[in-house]
Amino acid sequence: MNQQLFEAVDNYICDLVAPEDEALKATVESIAQNGIPQISISASQGKFLQVLAKVCNAKTILEIGTLAGYSTIWMARALPKDGRLISLEYEQLHANVATENMKRADLDGIVEIRVGKAIDLLPELVKEQLVFDMIFIDADKPPYAEYFEWALKLSRKGTLIIADNVIREGKVLEENPDDDRVAGVHRFNKLIASTKEVTACVIQNVGAKEHDGMAIA
Ligand code: SAH
Ligand code: DHB
Ligand code: MG
Repeated sequence: MNQQLFEAVDNYICDLVAPEDEALKATVESIAQNGIPQISISASQGKFLQVLAKVCNAKTILEIGTLAGYSTIWMARALPKDGRLISLEYEQLHANVATENMKRADLDGIVEIRVGKAIDLLPELVKEQLVFDMIFIDADKPPYAEYFEWALKLSRKGTLIIADNVIREGKVLEENPDDDRVAGVHRFNKLIASTKEVTACVIQNVGAKEHDGMAIA
């Protein structure tokens, strides 16, 4: 694969339509400064999510996997002033750093970060009878299929469900993957394909990050 070319084109795209402002740049810096894994989405992917949120006229967004809030900022910026984004994060350090980043981006009135295992927090959202216009799945990969099932419970007709990292450099082609993260997205991909309630597609991504993909249902 021509990774150099993909990166050059990604830079071209970002310069054109996805430049980072101070708040996004500071969020990227906060990841390195706090020794947090550098696994947030790219700027071009952030802009893609922002466009999707606008297209579905989202007022409520759920994110599973906050990290430092980089994707959170891109999506929350598509929301109206009375919009709401709830983001679920297991690591207290990540949630703390993300909280600071939301304040800097002036999004702390819109974004609520809940700390805990997503599999424990999702049933609470259902109990609260919350329904979301858009749901972004980007936490640990083994339970992706379970996250999708909870996402369906938190959806209405027309809700957009998006999942990051569903191609894993093509490792999803392996029939019986040893890596339980690959096995997790494998199971997820089969589930979205066979779930009659959704119309699903998968888009391959190349660019600044390794070859991967996003599912949209
Ligand atoms: N969406 C972010 C990246 C998320 S990385 C962005 O693009 O900017 C994945 C995040 O999921 C990490 O912060 C990790 O701590 C968190 N995570 C891992 N397991 C989790 C779980 N069981 N429940 C909730 N969050 C989890
Ligand atoms: C990993 C997780 C992600 O969400 C991502 O975009 C890239 C890598 C990981 O856990 O390795
Ligand atoms: Mg991801």
